[in-house]
This record gives sequence, structure tokens and C-alpha cells, in this order.
Amino acid sequence: MGSGTAALHLALLAVGVGPGDEVITTAHTFIATAEPISHVGARPVLVDIDPRTYTIDPDKVEAAITPRTRAIIPVHLYGQPADLRPLLEIAERHHLWLIEDAAQAHGAEYDGKRCGGIGHLACFSFYPGKNLGAYGDGGAVTGNDETLLARVRSLHDHGSTTKYEHREIGYCERLDALQAAILGAKLPHLDAWTDARRAHAKTYNELLQDSRMVTPYESPKARHVYHLYVIRAPRRDEMLERLKKNGIAAGIHYPIPLHRQPAYFKQGYGELSLPFTEKAACEIISLPMYAELTDEQIEYVTEAVKAVQ
Ligand SMILES: Cc1ncc(COP(=O)(O)O)c(C=O)c1O
Repeated sequence: MGSGTAALHLALLAVGVGPGDEVITTAHTFIATAEPISHVGARPVLVDIDPRTYTIDPDKVEAAITPRTRAIIPVHLYGQPADLRPLLEIAERHHLWLIEDAAQAHGAEYDGKRCGGIGHLACFSFYPGKNLGAYGDGGAVTGNDETLLARVRSLHDHGSTTKYEHREIGYCERLDALQAAILGAKLPHLDAWTDARRAHAKTYNELLQDSRMVTPYESPKARHVYHLYVIRAPRRDEMLERLKKNGIAAGIHYPIPLHRQPAYFKQGYGELSLPFTEKAACEIISLPMYAELTDEQIEYVTEAVKAVQ
């Protein structure tokens, strides 16, 4: 696919989500999770997160189902899989599609299985900053259902399965060949990079143990791949400033929940209250995380963090 956003868009089309439908997802994510739902004419129904994992709360999903609901898009946020077991049960009970937003979760596992092969379809992004990143945009749709995958394949290449025969009006969302070559060269290193990220997370956790920071919770069902290392800080904004002054590239993922984004706010989401999502948006801060980090760099960052607590 041309991008993770295109992957989500075509996955939704492939399962037949369209105008008038509802798709349940989380407000604590990048806007690209919701945009494709809007693009197919459906309505994103935004529900709250589990405050420990930052991923969609399955109980809230069940409560939000209406006769119009067609699909659920859990996001494996920061590299931690959403709680897929109850979500799959809900999907089965209510005859809904489950599409994993795995844009941040290359190599993540849930119940010992790799994300990307658990829901009906899954969508990855290869945006340069991702755990497996190209040098430009890229994405992929994965799954186990050949019929659905064939449909995505056709949609992404002008609606054709045989050259110059177009059975439907499709899209031009092929992965650029140069990006594919780069990804092919990087893919064999992904597992080692993931191990390095996990080791860095452990070092951060140990160094922040005696601080007031809330370090990431790792569900026992999940293998977190730490696309981002996100802590909660009591004086977050001050900390961000301080870290920046010290040359540390910290960030906030994400500062404005989707229901508070101007693009969605004006579509009637303004009344929505998602307390755990809103609280997280005010407290979270992402510390530097990439495979090549050194222990000295992690120490430097944690010292700066502790200086503002
Ligand atoms: C959670 C999530 N979903 C979807 C996307 C969209 O991916 P892309 O930027 O490749 O379109 C991203 C990344 O940007 C993301 O982080």
C-alpha cells in the first residue's frame, strides 16, 4: 500500500463498510485511524481507553454497539496490542469485522501470536519513524482470509486482477518499488531492533523506578514492541520544555484526542466525554526510543526527567 492510511481505507472498503455505517474505535490515536472511516462515508464512534494500556476498552466497545455498527478498529498503540481476545468475542457475537490498526506494532504479539494475523484484516504503516520504516510512505494490509486479501489487492491496483481488466473502480495505492526494496533490506533486522527497544524500555523502567513517573504497563498477554516509550508525568508541560532545552527530543502522542480535534469537534463530537483519554492527553510524554539508543543516553534523559518531577 502507499501508506498506512490507504491500508485502513482499503481494508474498510474490502469488508464493505460504507455510508451510514458506524465503526467503533479509540479517540486516543493518530487521526489516520479515523479518517479512512470518514472517507468511506461511515461514522467513527469513539470510545474510551483502558488507562493502563492506552488501548481501547472492550467493555466500552460493547456498550457502543448499535444496529449500524459494522466494524471495530482497535489500535495497538505505542506498540502494545489492544486486548484482542474480548474484542474478537464481541466481534463474533455481533457479526462485526475486526480490523487491527497495527501501524505502530510491527512484531508485537498477543497471546503468543503476531499482531497482523489476529483480526479479519490488519493494517501497517511503514512511515519513516515506524519500527519498520521506509524512506518515504508505505503501508500493508495483512490477514488470513484470502478472499478479503484478494479484494484489497484488486482495490489497491485500479480494481484489476488481470492486467488491463478492471472489474471495479479502484485506487492507485501500490507500494513504491524503491520503498519496497528498502523495507526488504530492513526487515531481517526488525526482530533485533525490537529486542533492543524492549531492553531500552527495561532500562528506562529501572532508572525511573524511584521517581514520580508512571512507567508503561505491559499486559501479560502482550509482547510490547515499544514504538514509543510513554510515561505519565505530573508536570508534563514543564518537563517537555526542560527536555527540549537539554537537547532531548521528547514528544506527546497525542496532545488532542480525536473528539477534540477541530475536524471532528465540528461534526458533533463536542459533547462526548472520554475521561481516561482526556486525562492521558494531559499527562503523557514520549521519551526518546529507537534501537540505537545507548544506556548513557537513557541515563541522561532520566536524569533530566527526574529534575522536573
Ligand atoms: C495509529 C496509526 N494509524 C495509522 C497511521 C497511518 O499511517 P501512515 O502515516 O503510513 O498513513 C499511523 C501513522 O502515521 C498511526 O500511528
